[in-house]
Amino acid sequence: MIKSMTKVTSIIAIDGPAASGKSTVGAAVAEQLGYLYFDTGVMYRVVTSVALDRSIPIADESAVTRLAEQVKIDFLPPTISDGRQFTILADGRDITWDIRTRAVDANVSPVSAYAGVRSAMTVQQRRIGQQGHVVMVGRDIGTVVLPEADLKIYLDASEEERARRRYKERLERGEQVEFESVLKEIRNRDQIDSSRSVAPLKKADDAIYLDSTGMTAAQVVERVLDMVKERERVG
Ligand code: DC
Repeated sequence: MIKSMTKVTSIIAIDGPAASGKSTVGAAVAEQLGYLYFDTGVMYRVVTSVALDRSIPIADESAVTRLAEQVKIDFLPPTISDGRQFTILADGRDITWDIRTRAVDANVSPVSAYAGVRSAMTVQQRRIGQQGHVVMVGRDIGTVVLPEADLKIYLDASEEERARRRYKERLERGEQVEFESVLKEIRNRDQIDSSRSVAPLKKADDAIYLDSTGMTAAQVVERVLDMVKERERVG
């Protein structure tokens, strides 16, 4: 008798627009499964933050690309207990919170649209993803970085809901911010991320579309874990 093999869901790709909940959900799913959680948006944020810090003009594609090729990015378990999911070093300097500023939010989409920046980041992301037991989140994971992923999810939510989530996060961090400006920023980033010529944000044909509008993060995590179980049950 031939024994049926259990299907293992080793590589999980979660893509979706800004503030759709990818990081919260990805981190929780990874923790439940005992997998590595890898947020690829962080890499584009590091390049943007270091460029701003060194006064490299964001519009200077070749200088920004050179920086992306040279900067050494390290991800470590949290080195300080201040609410961080991990510690991020750029050339040895802790920039964990620097990458979350409004200046970075406002400049990261153009940086991530540069082909040379993307290829430098994609090589590193593939190397990490192909080791398996990983939940990788971003914009192009299911389409470009890891098209071989076992489970692909496209996580979405309405613009207003995503803006509300980002607005709340910023208020909790003590920032003075208007809801309308957060909404405008989200729309602007969506527009650049989905219309760029290299690896634009889009649902992979074989990704499962999940609209999280009106759902709590815990409910979304539950749904994703159900998808993993279902996939492994069907075999
Ligand atoms: O998910 P995030 O907001 O941290 O992403 C920051 C930016 O990086 C986002 O505007 C688009 C870009 N990005 C990308 O182009 N490809 C990825 N895989 C992840 C992020």
